[in-house]
Amino acid sequence: MKKIALMGSTGSVGTQTLDVVRKYPDKLKIFALSANGNIDLLLEQIEEFKPEVVGVFNTQKANELQKKTSLKVLTGKNMLEKIAKMKNYDTFITATVGLTIIKATIQAIQNKKNVAIANKETLVAAGEIVMKEAKKHKVKIMPIDSEHSALFQCLNGETNKSIKSLIVTCSGGALRDYSKEDLKNVSIKDALGHKTWNMGQKITIDSATLMNKAFEVIEAKWLYGINPENIKVVIHPESLIHSMIEYSDNSIIAQISEPDMRLPIQYALSYPERWDEAVKRHNFDRSYTFKKPDLERFPCLGYAWKAMEAGGTMPAVMNAANDAMVARFLAGKCKYLDIARIIKKVMNGHKTIPNPTLDKIEKAIKETTEKVNKLK
Ligand SMILES: NC(=O)c1ccc[n+]([C@@H]2O[C@H](COP(=O)([O-])OP(=O)(O)OC[C@H]3O[C@@H](n4cnc5c(N)ncnc54)[C@H](OP(=O)(O)O)[C@@H]3O)[C@@H](O)[C@H]2O)c1
Repeated sequence: MKKIALMGSTGSVGTQTLDVVRKYPDKLKIFALSANGNIDLLLEQIEEFKPEVVGVFNTQKANELQKKTSLKVLTGKNMLEKIAKMKNYDTFITATVGLTIIKATIQAIQNKKNVAIANKETLVAAGEIVMKEAKKHKVKIMPIDSEHSALFQCLNGETNKSIKSLIVTCSGGALRDYSKEDLKNVSIKDALGHKTWNMGQKITIDSATLMNKAFEVIEAKWLYGINPENIKVVIHPESLIHSMIEYSDNSIIAQISEPDMRLPIQYALSYPERWDEAVKRHNFDRSYTFKKPDLERFPCLGYAWKAMEAGGTMPAVMNAANDAMVARFLAGKCKYLDIARIIKKVMNGHKTIPNPTLDKIEKAIKETTEKVNKLK
């Protein structure tokens, strides 16, 4: 029986993780659940999954929940870290948004717990520190993202020496067919209209700008130790091939399945086993098409290589600038094209700090957020 601490249980990845847990009551047990403030759904989850621990980031909401449950509700700034440090669980799942969970992920690793990582920002902002800690504490980092799970499955134990390139596939997002002119007038609704994946709002906007793919490229570098120039992105609108590995003999191995996050989530929890059908069977009734990404229309993708080249605090700064700009866009306070424009400006103005500590990364993030909110 694997005991799970699921952070962000009320979100898109969180609820789909609970679908997997619901399917395997003899193999998986929820130890902890946490959310930001959606206590109605969290209460339903508490009643169904009977965790030992529950956390709510928003203190007012935590107090409200406390009146409705006999469980002690943890809350406040260090709530995720407190859960990460607990003894009685096996796998820490990071399904919260933004930069909320980096410290807690490191705590879970230092606590020698395996980590199933959905939160993108962790490896983008602090990949070097997280991977070093994982190595030091002999902890497995299992990818939950469909692309990284696909790469993991295609790698199948091959050594890095025989890898020529990682090919990360990309649906192209909601705006993939928009012309440069059309992109000037994108509404929030347009950008949220993803055609193949149903996800949280923040990641859906990141998919529309291709910043999500930029994050995945940086994550792939850390997860698989591949040089940035050997990571490629290919647009594949059908989202059936979830990524590929090109080997030294020019053989390419692809992972194919219906687009459904429950497959990578289930595999992250079942590995090295494979359990029964996580998604419906693929019946080869569609074509697979591919295109090169257009960096002129979607410049955020190219920022990944700029950030990796600069290294140090630069990826965290790119991430923080994006976080702030997406929040601004979703609040109706800027235009879609401002997202890429301001991120570029912020990155150009940042002098990267090499080999940063977590404190330095956090400081750079804080300064970037303040700066972005003042920029026009
Ligand atoms: N969705 C996908 O298919 C997908 C795929 C791959 C990777 N990812 C990555 O996985 C992460 C989660 O994405 P998502 O789409 O599931 O997001 P989401 O639907 O917006 O859910 C976010 C979850 O995090 C909780 N949360 C937010 N701030 C928190 C805090 N300070 N402390 C504790 N919990 C907090 C939210 O609680 P409330 O509900 O109470 O607000 C919610 O449970 C992101 O980094 C995303 O990039 C997502």
